[in-house]
Amino acid sequence: MTLVTMKKILAKANKEGYAVGAFNINNMEILQGVIKAGENLKSPLIISCSEGAIEYAGIDYLINLVTTAAKLTKIPIALHLDHGKNFKIIKQCIDKGFTSIMIDASHYDFKENVKLTKRAVALARKKGVTVEAEIGKLSGVEDLVSERRGIYTDPAEAFEFVKQTKVDALAIAIGTSHGAYKFKGESHLEFSILKEIKSKLKMPLVLHGASSVYPELVEKVNSHGGEMENAHGVTDSLLKKACKLGINKVNTDTDLRLAFTGALRESLMRNKTSFDPRKYLIMARDDITKVVERKIKVFGSQNKA
Ligand code: G3H
Ligand code: 13P
Ligand code: ZN
Repeated sequence: MTLVTMKKILAKANKEGYAVGAFNINNMEILQGVIKAGENLKSPLIISCSEGAIEYAGIDYLINLVTTAAKLTKIPIALHLDHGKNFKIIKQCIDKGFTSIMIDASHYDFKENVKLTKRAVALARKKGVTVEAEIGKLSGVEDLVSERRGIYTDPAEAFEFVKQTKVDALAIAIGTSHGAYKFKGESHLEFSILKEIKSKLKMPLVLHGASSVYPELVEKVNSHGGEMENAHGVTDSLLKKACKLGINKVNTDTDLRLAFTGALRESLMRNKTSFDPRKYLIMARDDITKVVERKIKVFGSQNKA
């Protein structure tokens, strides 16, 4: 199958009320692990590459890897630029075959965010590429309890933003943050804001910073020489509820990093005489498949391919 647009994948998810995982990849093993999970559970997939992934692996390597994966499978796959901030990279992705891009100008004020997003939309439309943008701020929410309302996405602003930019998908801030240290105490998402935005916009909504930081993955890292204290993420039950209330794309990177790192650490420690990378990368790839299968079940995209 050729790559499909993210718009197509998300239109079905929005209509039928589930979410599709957007999984970040940086190399072949992570990609293969993700694809295998999608095939096992007949789920569509969004493969995300960040600007950092592009810098690490090279844009042509990533495009060729993902295009090959799509050709070899029957499940629908979109190739998406995650957190595009650099217009040179955004343009390259559009021109070279990504089927979706995110323009992330959420760190600017509303006016500048609209201006930069409209510029990305104009570039993408020429090639039929999907556009995701973000409004609200994700990081540091847990430290600023008194300012929470100011950091969460304002529903009225979200409505105005989409009206002006005409983006296909909107990332909103309801309490998540990137990385492995998301909450100091109980994890909490502001579902009232999600409900209000969905009722106003009825379009595909995106949750970034959505990894669960599963304790068993952290434990595997720590018990094999890693040092990750107090890592904490978004529980499966909160994610399930978010998907039910209108999130249609769930961005997941940290859980994949944890699965890969834990398996790699364990395998290297257990096989001290081995120096064949295939022997330890195969375990890391298998653990990526396991965690992605769990995610697909939580998001509800099983049998939606
Ligand atoms: O949201 C960011 C993703 O986890 C990608 O991270 O920029 O380190 O590749 P990265
Ligand atoms: P996590 O760090 O929670 O996996 O979030 C990833 C993400 O939002 C990628 O855009
Ligand atoms: Zn993100």
